[in-house]
Amino acid sequence: MFNGKKRLPRAAVGVAIAGALGSILALAQAQAQETVKIGLILPMTGGQASTGKQIDNAVKLYMQQKGDTVAGKKIEIILKDDGAVPDNTKRLAQELIVNDKVHFIAGFGVTPAALAAAPLATQAKVPEIVMAAGTSIITERSPYIVRTSFTLAQSSTIIGDWAAKNGIKKVATLTSDYAPGNDALTFFKQNFTAGGGEVVEEVKVPLANPDFAPFLQRMKDAKPDAVFVFVPAGQGGSFMKQYAERGLDKSGIKVIGPGDVMDDDLLNGMGDAALGAVTAHLYSAAHPSAMNKEFVAAYKKAFGNRPGFMAVSGYDGIHLIYEALKKTGGKTDGDALVEAMKGMKWESPRGPISIDPETRDIVQNIYIRKVEKVDGELYNVEFATFEAVKDAGKTKK
Ligand code: PHB
Repeated sequence: MFNGKKRLPRAAVGVAIAGALGSILALAQAQAQETVKIGLILPMTGGQASTGKQIDNAVKLYMQQKGDTVAGKKIEIILKDDGAVPDNTKRLAQELIVNDKVHFIAGFGVTPAALAAAPLATQAKVPEIVMAAGTSIITERSPYIVRTSFTLAQSSTIIGDWAAKNGIKKVATLTSDYAPGNDALTFFKQNFTAGGGEVVEEVKVPLANPDFAPFLQRMKDAKPDAVFVFVPAGQGGSFMKQYAERGLDKSGIKVIGPGDVMDDDLLNGMGDAALGAVTAHLYSAAHPSAMNKEFVAAYKKAFGNRPGFMAVSGYDGIHLIYEALKKTGGKTDGDALVEAMKGMKWESPRGPISIDPETRDIVQNIYIRKVEKVDGELYNVEFATFEAVKDAGKTKK
């Protein structure tokens, strides 16, 4: 006993420090458990950057509108740029899962990126939410994949039928030379030729820096009734520029296809050459629902331009994550989350959508649209609706 003060024995001091450390650790752990981490892997640079931008914007908008807490958990987005290079996607997905311990991986601007991450999702039992890529086989590559974008088969079968029934007899095709382009071509051809149409020429262009000029010159000479075009989001502007420069807009050769080539974020910049193009697609900024009007207005206000179909796919992807977390009461077990997503139905800015419980793929309306001028701006104006379209491209088992 010194200075009249009581001193704690050494052992007691040790216990007190250990106790304090313990509670700090427990607090940190509790905080970690209170956070749900989403690794968002997108092409923010390179040729597919418009897809990354649209999805990143849409996720931000959704979180501004709905808040960043769901089922008592704080949502944290970790954005990574893979430049649409699948080796990068794989490395980033691995780092996000192992180091950051994310509860979801999401995004995936192109098919090869979505496929590269699939084995990691399976191994780690982490849901992979595909918000952009559109090849049918993707959801078959992991039981943890759920898609909120689209498949090329959904739109290409429908435009194939429409073309055959609407006086288009001879078509030349131009498709991007990778998996979704091949799906677009296969499913268009299947339905168009079954309806009596003929494909007179097939050209494939590389995904990176495609040159459309040689194809367009040949088309000008061959004079098919229409050209069927699939290029991924972001490339429609340069295709239509070259189409107009070669005077094809004045030659009576129609542009048809899935709607990727007429993406809303580029459409206004394409000028009058785009007028009359008929495409089948999941989304138009001109979709006349109250929800879409609000969505378009909010997106324009926040980012200064129109949302395209990639923005809507991202908006629905983050919605799916929020709703699944509500259903699991905030639990982040991968199997429980995927189970919660199966069969989920909701109203999207694109119209009513759901997740097919069998395939984990999106079921949605496909609209046939024609480019028209409305109040001085170009829009894809919807004129026919095919309801609740499932993917036609799943492997028959
Ligand atoms: C894809 O790579 O799957 C993809 C990308 C952009 C599109 C459509 C499909 O517009």
